Amino acid sequence: MSEITTHINLEKLNSFGIEAFGEYFVEINKINDLLQLIHHPTYTSNKKLILGGGSNMLFTGNFNGLVIKNNLKGIELISESENDVVVKAAAGEIWHDFVLWCIDKNYSGLENLSLIPGCVGASPMQNIGAYGVEIKDVFEELEAYTLINGGKKIFSKQECEFGYRESVFKRDLKDQYFIASVSFRLKKHGLVNTSYGAINTELELMKISKPSIKDVSQAVINIRQSKLPDPKVLGNAGSFFKNPEVSSSIYNTLKIKFTDLVGYTLPNGNYKLAAGWLIEQCGLKGFEMNGAAVHNKQALVLVNLNHCKGEDVYRLSEHIMRKVFEKFGVHLEREVNIIG
Ligand code: FAD
Ligand code: EPU
Repeated sequence: MSEITTHINLEKLNSFGIEAFGEYFVEINKINDLLQLIHHPTYTSNKKLILGGGSNMLFTGNFNGLVIKNNLKGIELISESENDVVVKAAAGEIWHDFVLWCIDKNYSGLENLSLIPGCVGASPMQNIGAYGVEIKDVFEELEAYTLINGGKKIFSKQECEFGYRESVFKRDLKDQYFIASVSFRLKKHGLVNTSYGAINTELELMKISKPSIKDVSQAVINIRQSKLPDPKVLGNAGSFFKNPEVSSSIYNTLKIKFTDLVGYTLPNGNYKLAAGWLIEQCGLKGFEMNGAAVHNKQALVLVNLNHCKGEDVYRLSEHIMRKVFEKFGVHLEREVNIIG
């Protein structure tokens, strides 16, 4: 276990680049570090925050407790059959590096999730998704330890209760488990998923008709780089809100009033609305409040334009929610984890 340090500035450890101090800070480099830490008085007497890459968090104040940085590393081939492999990655592995490792081995399933920031351990938290794939589509199981006494538990896909940007770890089991590794079942024969329209358009631009896993990954990278800000250049946490789900009757009523409303049908008959479109229609694209702003290329992304505080981003998000509700009667829900 690394030494427990105090009063750590977390500015470089969250992708918004927000200055916030952690009262105590410790790094976990092997699972024994966690099992030792659990008996430490600083652990038992403080609230805890597990930190991966900090790319889905907004600090609205200092964290008066113990920040536990997950640095567990390692990628392992667990099993192999004619068509499938099961690969296990430790929670502290960088997500995109792990995706590249799989692509290099010609294992398919994760390429549509290329370039998502953060670590493997956080991927089940909100069932990360992009370009037609969510991790639940390839998830096998995960290994976690309870924060109460370090007891180990394997979670199956069913037990994770995955939903759109949701899992049991964000709801009933919030702040109860330390995820140590995640296993994925991937395919061996170069099968690709290009069902998401934008990927095909990008592949056409790249003049590729029979895409490999690597080509799909590159297409996704190109699309992402064209609209999402790089946190190293402009602080952000990706989409700040979820795309809201509404009933078909609400969708139909809105569609009459706003003919170019962007929405997609869901298997349950409801519609998912593009929150970025709703925000843009409120005239908020590029809107700035005290250094926090709505990104000028993607209205669903809030950015730290000018050394803002976490509260500034939070207040901007409240303003956006109010404006969208006034215009459309639709309630936006935050996707980013608010810590404060
Ligand atoms: P953190 O921000 O460190 O943590 C997120 C939450 O998980 C926190 O509540 C934390 O306490 C908890 N947590 C982290 N690790 C563990 C662990 N080992 N055990 C228990 N709890 C843990 N997300 C998508 O789904 N799709 C996208 O396309 C996407 N694009 C993005 C683009 C940009 C530019 C950015 C900045 C973010 C984007 N995101 C996207 C959001 C983010 O990348 C993901 O949510 C990612 O999985 C967060 O990983 P992290 O390691 O940074 O998590
Ligand atoms: N749109 C606008 N104006 C905007 C932004 C979007 O009109 O400023 C409209 C466009 O019509 C576009 C539609 O919204 O066709 C959807 O936009 P986009 O394809 O950029 O995707 P998104 O719905 O904004 C979601 C995820 C992203 C994920 C992409 C690709 C959520 C909350 N966000 O964004 O995930 O990468 O789809 O699959 O579901 C994240 O979770 O952090 C994230 C970036």
